[in-house]
Amino acid sequence: MALELSTKASIVGRPVADIEKFGERGTAYLGKVVMSTGERPVLGRKVLCDIATPHVMLICGKRGSGKSYDLAVLLEEFARQPFDIKQRISIIAIDTVGIFWTLKIPNKAETKELEKWDLKPDKTSVKVLVPQGRIDFYKKKGIPIDGAFTIRTSELDITEWLSLFKLSWNDALGVLLTRVVEQVKEVLGNYYGIEDIIKAINKDEEADKITKQALTNRFKVAETWGLFEKEGTKIMEIARPGAITVIDVSAYRQAIGMEGTRDIVVGLLGKKLFEERMLYRKEEEVKLTKGLKKESDMPLVWLMIDEAHMFMPRDEENIALQVLLEWVRVGRQPGLSLVLATQRPEKLHPDAISQCDLFISHRMTSQADIQAVSQLRPSYMHQDFDKYYQQMPRARGYALLLDDNTEKLWLIKVRPRFSWDGGVTASAFTE
Ligand SMILES: Nc1ncnc2c1ncn2[C@@H]1O[C@H](COP(=O)(O)OP(=O)(O)OP(=O)(O)O)[C@@H](O)[C@H]1O
Ligand SMILES: [Mg+2]
Repeated sequence: MALELSTKASIVGRPVADIEKFGERGTAYLGKVVMSTGERPVLGRKVLCDIATPHVMLICGKRGSGKSYDLAVLLEEFARQPFDIKQRISIIAIDTVGIFWTLKIPNKAETKELEKWDLKPDKTSVKVLVPQGRIDFYKKKGIPIDGAFTIRTSELDITEWLSLFKLSWNDALGVLLTRVVEQVKEVLGNYYGIEDIIKAINKDEEADKITKQALTNRFKVAETWGLFEKEGTKIMEIARPGAITVIDVSAYRQAIGMEGTRDIVVGLLGKKLFEERMLYRKEEEVKLTKGLKKESDMPLVWLMIDEAHMFMPRDEENIALQVLLEWVRVGRQPGLSLVLATQRPEKLHPDAISQCDLFISHRMTSQADIQAVSQLRPSYMHQDFDKYYQQMPRARGYALLLDDNTEKLWLIKVRPRFSWDGGVTASAFTE
């Protein structure tokens, strides 16, 4: 009996009653509990994390401590869920660095390490979408991608266009933009492209020539990004049951004026998914009241965001911020989960920290960042964060795990990946 107890996995993120009811179904294998001190500690029980119900998970840690690695481990686990669970969830990962396509390749480099964990290298089935305008670049480099991600032009509201071009309501360009986008919507409904907006600008009779030219130029630049299309990727197509989609937004850093597009992509995705899930949730509720099974076409959604401080900054405005704060505050009810990874919790909106129910923290050394997460310090934490970080082994993959659901705290070692690690630190050595 004692032996059985010590090998039983610990489940985080799931209340005891649900553990009794569902056991280990719908969980992700994160790693193992650290049982002793020192640089090579003894590892104990497996740690499994609930992924069948909504959570807000925050992953912190200094540069190169293993945050993106954790996200990849989670993606691998989503991909390995039994069919019935997988069909009820959909995962979208925002890849700011362009590293998650390597999930498609087995991790042959760490076969030995995987063996120690009784695991084997394996590929993970994910769909990687890149900006339309960058497809050729990826293909030339032989990077396995699955298609382009574009946005239906009509999905952008006036506020989003204004934010994209860094304009305000009351400057001349903003006034013209508001007028033409409203007009185009009225005449063409939700099927129009940037060229239709440009035509409307040219036809405008109120604005002067220079204002018209300046706004046209902005739209022409936006056209070259290859992000907006009449058709565009339907957001609901991305949130298909069982789909694991990586949206590579790393290329949006490279073109001038494109920085804002990354925020628009996240903001729009967040907004649409929120609206749709709210509707579907009602449908599910109606079914429940009629004694029918709780099923609808739209699965629960997990949105994973690496470098989350970029989209949910503490002191700046960002088009994605309000939407994501909504996810954080009320996402549980409609079934929306967020996994946020950041190396700068100090730069992250404080609500994203205070509202998380699962907190995974690798080593942190900056006092400002430690201070930022210290607001979390729950009653079940026996000492300050500083002390935990000092005790944590220096090697990568070790982390403190706080679970508000079970009100427990662990020191864990994250398991090795099945799939190739694209985040390996660059080095001048060739071997
Ligand atoms: N659990 C782990 N097991 C083994 N190696 C790991 C583990 N976690 C991280 N590593 C190693 O550390 C490297 C850096 O990890 P990762 O890219 O996830 O860091 P990061 O915290 O995302 O850093 P950054 O803030 O710079 O994005 C990985 O490429 C990998 O080699
Ligand atoms: Mg990273």
